[in-house]
Amino acid sequence: MGKPLDPPPGSNTLTVRDNRTGKSYQIPIVDNSISATDFKAIKASRVAGEREENETEKGLRLADRGFLNTAVLRSEITYIDGDAGVLRYRGYPIEQLAQHSNHLETAYLLIYGSLPTPSQYQTWRDEIMHHSVIHADAEQFFRSFRYDAHPMAILTSALAYLGSYYSEANPSLQGQNLFTKGDKPSLATMDKQIYRLIGKATTLAAMAYRVRQGREFVTPPTGLSYTGSFLYQMDHLGQENYVPNPVLEKALDVLFLLHADHEMNASSTSVLQVGSSLVDPFSAVAAGCASLYGPLHGGANEAVIRMLISIGKPENVPAFLEAVKKREKVLSGFGHRVYKTSDPRSFIVRKTADEVFKITGKDELLETAMALHDAAMKDDYFISRKLAPNVDFWSGLIYRAMGFPNDYFPVLFAVPRVVGWLAHWRQMMLQAGGVKIWRPRQIYVGAAKRDYVGLEDRIAVEGLKKTPSAIEHSGISKRTRLASFKGQTKAKL
Ligand code: CMC
Repeated sequence: MGKPLDPPPGSNTLTVRDNRTGKSYQIPIVDNSISATDFKAIKASRVAGEREENETEKGLRLADRGFLNTAVLRSEITYIDGDAGVLRYRGYPIEQLAQHSNHLETAYLLIYGSLPTPSQYQTWRDEIMHHSVIHADAEQFFRSFRYDAHPMAILTSALAYLGSYYSEANPSLQGQNLFTKGDKPSLATMDKQIYRLIGKATTLAAMAYRVRQGREFVTPPTGLSYTGSFLYQMDHLGQENYVPNPVLEKALDVLFLLHADHEMNASSTSVLQVGSSLVDPFSAVAAGCASLYGPLHGGANEAVIRMLISIGKPENVPAFLEAVKKREKVLSGFGHRVYKTSDPRSFIVRKTADEVFKITGKDELLETAMALHDAAMKDDYFISRKLAPNVDFWSGLIYRAMGFPNDYFPVLFAVPRVVGWLAHWRQMMLQAGGVKIWRPRQIYVGAAKRDYVGLEDRIAVEGLKKTPSAIEHSGISKRTRLASFKGQTKAKL
């Protein structure tokens, strides 16, 4: 870096010329990417009047609000070609996995890199199902939530709470290199937390559901599939020989598989950001769950149904789309940071919806959803911005048809995504060169250096800058606020 020589054509470097200094720099290109730290060497002297806070002489920064074109790590897990609508887990097309695999087998693939052999699969499935049981004390934890608590608030808290049971898996207690050594004991400890988190995710989610229904909790059954056990824990009301409907169990399994990973999405990034401080995996996964809750991410499936209910009927679609174009309304379930065509998962979800509707009957919102989809796909506003349905557009309709409450939909996204979060977390813990804490930089645009002014002198110096409405948010009671305001004003007048 930094050699001002003309490289031969075809060399894998980028030549950058800094017109402030006239210097040229050659930056290596590796895997079609350049290293942001190479730009730190590009320095200039501050010009007269330039803010010292720009730190011009400390090297160039790369600005990327929202990580639009920043690769935060090298990954072998999931590949997306957003222009072609391609999604592959460890090289396998999502369509093939959805057709031939199941959620737990795919989970193994995502986490360990290859499809399991029959004996590996059996051990994996047994370990996960065996680790689905929760300590009896956890009941009190769930009962401490209000009856109307959002289930994502419960699930996020429950994941962090779960970690409190496993001090042996906590680097803060056992030593910070607990998971980064890559030796046999470290891998075994890591595997155990993976079994626990995947195994108990359905149990925690079912408990979050039942506590709001005022029902007793159900011990995870034996002999059922992952989604079969989940549905059983949610719906069993004491009937003898109760088994979930196999079509719905299979449909949920396909949806779980489709949601298991999606490369560097917001919640996986949160898991890695939090995990990069070497905190325990339960805390890191809880952070991912919190991130997924937002309506721009996993909360979109819930938002789609609220949107469809507000539209009401197909005739109202044109007016709704006009409001979206004026930015008065949001079209949830459309658009994606990476896909610039239809999300490949949305086709599989749409097909799965038809299977489910054969059992449950069609959802009354389906016609409105189809009218909205068709109108948006023909509209220039959406075509020119390459906005198409994402996975959340149809999934909510299936969940609704299956009888899940609207606010539970993000939980049905978070539970399978635990797999992806763990795959990324494991990969980062074991990456060559160890873990680097994720500590980005900022472009400081705040106040330049200024000197502290004592409280008494502040009004005289700055005037009555604080308006009563600004103080309104400060948490002091109105009576106190007026009294002190009057007092100060009087004293200064
Ligand atoms: N409805 C209307 N306009 C939209 C939409 C939408 N759903 N999404 C993007 N746009 C517009 C946006 O206003 C912008 O227009 P302009 O260039 O005129 O300012 C343009 O399209 C580019 O969008 P962006 O906001 O820069 O795109 P982004 O990559 O920052 O955001 C997104 C991606 C998914 C947050 C966004 O498309 C969105 O808010 N969609 C609705 C929420 C949603 O469905 N989220 C689920 C995502 S998929 C499941 C998951 O992985 O979580």
